[in-house]
Amino acid sequence: MEKLPGIRACVFDAYGTLFDIQAPIARLAPEIGPHAEEISALWRRKQLEYSWLRSLMGVHADFWRVTGDALDYALDQFGVSGPGLRDEIMALYLKLDAYAEVADALAAVKARGKLTAILSNGSPSMLKAAVRHAGLDRLFDMVLSVEDVGIYKPSRRVYRHAMQKLQISDAPSVCFLTSNTWDAHGAATFGFQAVRVDRFGLKDERLPGKPAALVKDLSGLAGIV
Ligand code: 2OP
Repeated sequence: MEKLPGIRACVFDAYGTLFDIQAPIARLAPEIGPHAEEISALWRRKQLEYSWLRSLMGVHADFWRVTGDALDYALDQFGVSGPGLRDEIMALYLKLDAYAEVADALAAVKARGKLTAILSNGSPSMLKAAVRHAGLDRLFDMVLSVEDVGIYKPSRRVYRHAMQKLQISDAPSVCFLTSNTWDAHGAATFGFQAVRVDRFGLKDERLPGKPAALVKDLSGLAGIV
């Protein structure tokens, strides 16, 4: 794959890109019942929808609240309840595992002298917990949350926030990595060199902004930046 020119920083989406978000429901599937997989998918879809809808409505709430509301919707839709189950699932969201190649890929990128950061919808405490649980603390120069901006991705204000924090003034010197198709288009439209991490076999969206590259996972990252 061709090298992306002039990259100074690699900025990563968190959920689904670095951290495996399917694990909590999978782990509790026996208690959740036969619709566990559908609940997991609906939970994620509602989580994202609520982030976008709240951004459009101008009624921000942090990602912990949005994630909990989305889970309540998904469980309710499938008629699943049970003492403590909801809180058990939410607690697992703070203890997500990183995908297998993530730590080595980050170390290799850092060894090439690039800055590394997370830029996520997650609230600061959610991100802190996930990064610590996955043992990635020392591999990031910065962990940035939309909470500093008060609106969700793909608002341009969020991507601009990362540039300000990284003290980078030209957007194309940022490589933004995400497994979210919509986030890749958002970041590319903003001006980052977006790399879509295709963990789920998805097509590019019919939206503005063309991702600069498509990779299966993060293992070859150091070779392209
Ligand atoms: C994030 O980490 C929602 O995956 C998204 O910002």
